[in-house]
Amino acid sequence: MPRIAYVNGRYVPHATGQVHIEDRGFQFADGVYEVCAVRGGQLIDEEPHLRRLDRSLNELRMRSPVGSAALRHVMRETVRRNRVADGLVYVQISRGVAPRDHGFPSAETEPTLVVTARSIALEKYAAWAATGVKVVTIPESRWARCDIKSTALLANVLAKQHAREKGAFESWFVDRDGFVTEGASTNAWIVDAAGKLRTRPLGHAILPGITRGEILPLCRQLGIELDERAFTVEEAKAAREAFLTAASIGVLPITAVDDCKIGTGRPGPIAARLGEAYWTSRSE
Ligand code: PDD
Repeated sequence: MPRIAYVNGRYVPHATGQVHIEDRGFQFADGVYEVCAVRGGQLIDEEPHLRRLDRSLNELRMRSPVGSAALRHVMRETVRRNRVADGLVYVQISRGVAPRDHGFPSAETEPTLVVTARSIALEKYAAWAATGVKVVTIPESRWARCDIKSTALLANVLAKQHAREKGAFESWFVDRDGFVTEGASTNAWIVDAAGKLRTRPLGHAILPGITRGEILPLCRQLGIELDERAFTVEEAKAAREAFLTAASIGVLPITAVDDCKIGTGRPGPIAARLGEAYWTSRSE
């Protein structure tokens, strides 16, 4: 079945969908995006993803090309037309097409909107969750507003490639003070030596992950003690457990950081409980 993409008001074949060469997304990475999981044909955590999209647009003084109801419709329709049961829907908005000039284009410039959807093999995710994955650390090299979900992802691209070349699933960025910020495309968590769940508090240094935000109340419900506080690489290496979160994968256990075994070297029980609770609560 040929894939379909939504590009600026039209559903077009994915293979031939195009944006202009002077699109500011292409020229300057002057754009924002969202990635929402799809399970059983339903969008997961759609509300908070759309709220974060609005926030990213506002922070960058960009306007949305369509209203929220229209965007929801397009996301659903793109999922439907691609017959995605389990997968992802991707929304990208750029500041539009204009002669290349760093400053903002004229106020009439129409933002560009692209929506795509694709299926994922859930078995692959289940296999990762069963074995756990490795992460490696890398110095933080991103800009000072990592809280904005911008398509400017060059440092994240390099970090992910670094992980792959090291045989790891993810790279964790480490700030100048030795604290982990987050992964190239995931939020970072540990269960520290004292048994407390730790993750960096929100701020400009990390993306306010939607999965992260949904996991926090689950911790309270499950009676898991939470300490929203940054952790160092040394603390991670001494942790009982570590895991990462992202919309695409939910909760994924980590078994090694920089080749240092975490806990027993096997996926930990808290990651498993939270992962299960996360998907169960999404389907209620
Ligand atoms: N990545 N941190 C970064 C830098 C991310 O890019 C992401 C998401 C996350 C997790 O956020 P959420 O729980 O909202 O997915 C954290 C998406 C999936 C991506 O870039 O494909």
